[in-house]
Amino acid sequence: MAYHIPVLLSESIEGLNIKPNGVYVDLTFGGGGHSRAILDRLGSKGHLFAFDQDEEAFRNAINDKRFTLIRGNFRYFRNFLLYHKVDHVDGILADLGVSSHHFDSPERGFSYRFEGPLDMRMNQSARLTAYKVVNSYDLDNLTRILKLYGEVQGANRFASAIARERSAKPIETVEQLAQILMPLVPAKIQNKVLSQIFQAIRIEVNGEMEALKAMLESSIKCLVSGGRLVVISYHSLEDRMVKNFFRYGNTDGVESKDLQGNRNVPFEQVNRKVIVPSEEECRANTRARSAKLRIGVRL
Ligand SMILES: C[S@@+](CC[C@H](N)C(=O)[O-])C[C@H]1O[C@@H](n2cnc3c(N)ncnc32)[C@H](O)[C@@H]1O
Repeated sequence: MAYHIPVLLSESIEGLNIKPNGVYVDLTFGGGGHSRAILDRLGSKGHLFAFDQDEEAFRNAINDKRFTLIRGNFRYFRNFLLYHKVDHVDGILADLGVSSHHFDSPERGFSYRFEGPLDMRMNQSARLTAYKVVNSYDLDNLTRILKLYGEVQGANRFASAIARERSAKPIETVEQLAQILMPLVPAKIQNKVLSQIFQAIRIEVNGEMEALKAMLESSIKCLVSGGRLVVISYHSLEDRMVKNFFRYGNTDGVESKDLQGNRNVPFEQVNRKVIVPSEEECRANTRARSAKLRIGVRL
């Protein structure tokens, strides 16, 4: 089975506007599909730094002297680059979320389609697991996560069911969790609701929103003027943060002005409208369906 099929490949690589001798960053290496396409466009003096926090992605490492793969969370990517004596880059790509490999690996606990432990960590050495979220977060906190990160309707009902069940004995597996939730949802929307709930827990476990915010903020300092930031997101919360960031220079969507009253906007969007995959791509790769691509130029 393929590790991951890259989404919006040509559109995102076009968006980077690659200069053959430039320095580029792929923040989400995964199966390396985007990285390979970047390397194809780089000349002998160009360089690509790629990141992934999942050690399993390292099996896809590319043997090329113009390529450096770093294991780490992209929220700290600027520090890693400084360590490698790089203070500015020409383009940054982030293809957010998890890879198909995560969903397809039962032992990682990302998918309710398989029996597996309640894990969901992209970084296997991280402390927080789905088990801890499900078994130790209080009712208010569980409800908040489901509502905020999964946009789950009636989040309180699901959180209460989890709290009730775990008071008898801990919920250990993905299947147990799915069995608790399924009776609360009509059969025809079970997949949708379970996906939303699993997404919410996964986002919490991996601190995805915090990492995205920190990464976007660091990109301001890291990109040269004219450098490109290319972000592919997969759910509305992520896309909203990226959209706000390009429009206002911050993820909260608050307009800020300098002392002279000029708007502080570090980026200009290359496309007014968000870019989405073609019908053909969605047919060939169902995981592309929710993808949204935004491209900004550092002013
Ligand atoms: C959607 S996949 C990227 C797929 C890749 N573009 C390709 O063509 O194969 C996202 C990857 O980024 C990694 N990832 C997600 N969030 C991360 C973070 N905050 N720091 C480092 N890696 C992260 C995941 O482990 C996963 O391998």
